[in-house]
Parts: sequence; structure tokens; C-alpha cells
Amino acid sequence: MKTLIEAKKVKAYYVLEIFGKQRTVRAVDEVDLDVLEGSIHGIAGESGCGKTTFLKVLFAAVEPPLRMVDGKVYYVDGTKAIDLYSVEESERKRFRWSFASYVPQGSMSVLNPVLKIKDTFRDFISSHLKGKNKNEAYEMAKEHLKELGLPFKILDAYPHQLSGGMRQRVTIALATVLKPKVIIADEATTALDVVTQRAVIQLLKDIQTWQHSALVLVTHDMGVHANITNLLSVMYAGKVIEEGRTEELFDNPKHPYTQYLIKSLPRFGDRSKRESPPGSPPSLLNLPSGCAFHPRCPFKMQKCEKEQPTTFKVSESHKVACWLAEG
Ligand SMILES: Nc1ncnc2c1ncn2[C@@H]1O[C@H](COP(=O)(O)OP(=O)(O)OP(=O)(O)O)[C@@H](O)[C@H]1O
Ligand SMILES: [Mg+2]
Repeated sequence: MKTLIEAKKVKAYYVLEIFGKQRTVRAVDEVDLDVLEGSIHGIAGESGCGKTTFLKVLFAAVEPPLRMVDGKVYYVDGTKAIDLYSVEESERKRFRWSFASYVPQGSMSVLNPVLKIKDTFRDFISSHLKGKNKNEAYEMAKEHLKELGLPFKILDAYPHQLSGGMRQRVTIALATVLKPKVIIADEATTALDVVTQRAVIQLLKDIQTWQHSALVLVTHDMGVHANITNLLSVMYAGKVIEEGRTEELFDNPKHPYTQYLIKSLPRFGDRSKRESPPGSPPSLLNLPSGCAFHPRCPFKMQKCEKEQPTTFKVSESHKVACWLAEG
């Protein structure tokens, strides 16, 4: 499978002034991730572990106080690779939405409340495709909605006239109208009821199949990951601590944190107690020494308190950053 986005040792920190002192939130710390053509790549982890921040890095939406401190992100389009953080802003803009698109967390508020949906589509399309006039842009929007099986009448509505689920579908339609190669979706189903959640996930999956694009799907819902992703990265305190084929991770989770995440999933007919990880995630302003998970880990060894684990290969398609996997 071809790589479409390659993130290498990305460090992205929020640099804050607190009571006159500079403090650093290490939201993304040395993260490597390859987005492969045709894949549905999930990113999992508890609230505050850096998922959204990492997506911002992938989409070149890094703005103060967030800083890209180190590392590289490459967009690979055919034989051409661009180094996202060293090209001109104009070049970056050319790739944004047409190569990689983003459905942000809480995207229901992204739609302009005073514009009809059709005007949002027209403005969006004509600002990205310079040759298109408003009429052509409207036709393109209609064609896209048809492909996605969404009713045309939503084009005449204002955002507040649509249900939450429909607004989310509209946001997804908008993010995919330029047929991007990578769709990045952040908690696309949070705050929706279960039936609507399923429909929204199905829509994303259908688009990914038709457009043969890659979908990067962030959610803390391990059930969604189990159902639709084929690759999974688990983040903890700004780092990817386990990564691999989703099936392999669910069958044979190596990191105690991944094991907890999987155990916390409700299973049909299973009445045993759900176990979530003990304690709470650390503050990214003040991380524990060694492995950031060690204060919560039932299997911690002395080494874990002192040394950050290196990454070990479990198989060709599975790796883990945990000292338990050593040797
Ligand atoms: N604008 C900001 N300024 C300072 N710190 C921030 C800012 N945005 C996020 N953070 C911090 O960065 C860390 C990572 O946040 P991020 O939003 O990426 O987490 P997340 O995994 O997406 O969480 P959630 O599941 O709640 O969406 C958190 O500790 C958060 O408090
Ligand atoms: Mg988030």
C-alpha cells in the first residue's frame, strides 16, 4: 500500500505563559505515523492524550500557542512528496482540502449559521477551484450529495434547521467534495445517538471506499475502532504506545493500557465488571519520569519508573512501546 502522509518524530507543544512563566504542554511527543492508501487508520486514547493536536499537525492547522517543535510531515501525491512544514503557505493551501481534508471535533459548529448550506458549498468550492463559477459550484455540490445519498433539499436549509446528525453529514460532504486522498475525522460521532452514529460512520466508510481514499479516524470509542478501522494507533500522554493491524491489537494487545481500553468495552452477554485503567491520565505539563503510564500500571517494573520504553516489534504489523515486551 502506498503511503499518503508520513509523519516522522513529530513534536508539537503548546507553549504557554502561566503567571509570567513559560510552561510547555507536550501534547504530541515524537509521534511517527504513516497514513496508507485505502486504509482506515484509527487513533485511540483517553481524553487529553493529544489526538486532536496530532490531527492538527497532519492538517497543517498549527497555530499559536501550538508549535511544531520538531519532526516532519510529508504529503505524498503520486511521485511528489512535499515537506508540509517547509513549503510556502500558498503551496500548503493548495494541498489543504484537495489532498487532505479535515472534519474537526465539534464540527457541527463549523457551518456558518447565517448561510444556507448551498451558499457554504458555493463559497467553499469556488474559493478552492478557481475556474468554477457559483453555478458550476452549485451543480458540483448537488452531484456530490447525490453520490452520498443525501437529499438536495438540505441545500436550501440553514444549519439550525437540520438535525445534529444531518449537520454532521453535511460537514462530511463539504470536507469530501473536492475528493481528497486523505480524510481526517475527529470524533465524528461523539454527541450523536447510536443509530445516527452508525449512519455517519457508514457514510465515512462509503466515501473512503468510493474515493479509494484513506480515512484517519479519531475516537475514544474502541467499539468504533473494532468495527471499522484496519490499522490502529493507541496514544497515551502525547505518544503512540502501541500500533498495528486493528485485529492483531484486539486479539493480542501488548501494552497494559491497550489491554484496559479493550477490557473497558462492553461485550454482548458478558456481565463481568468493566475495567477501566486505574487513576487518571497525567498532566502533560508535568509528566511522570520513565514510562508515562507507570503510575497506573499494575505490571510496572523498576526500569519503567526511570527509562522511557523503546519500541519493540511484536510482528511485522504490530509494535509496542513497553518494557514488558523486551526480550
Ligand atoms: N489551546 C490549548 N492551549 C493549551 N493546551 C491545550 C490547548 N489545546 C489542547 N491543550 C492540551 O493539550 C493536550 C492534548 O489535547 P488534545 O485536545 O489534543 O487531546 P485529545 O486527545 O484530542 O482529547 P479529547 O479526547 O478530549 O478530544 C491536553 O492536555 C490539553 O489540555
Ligand atoms: Mg480531541
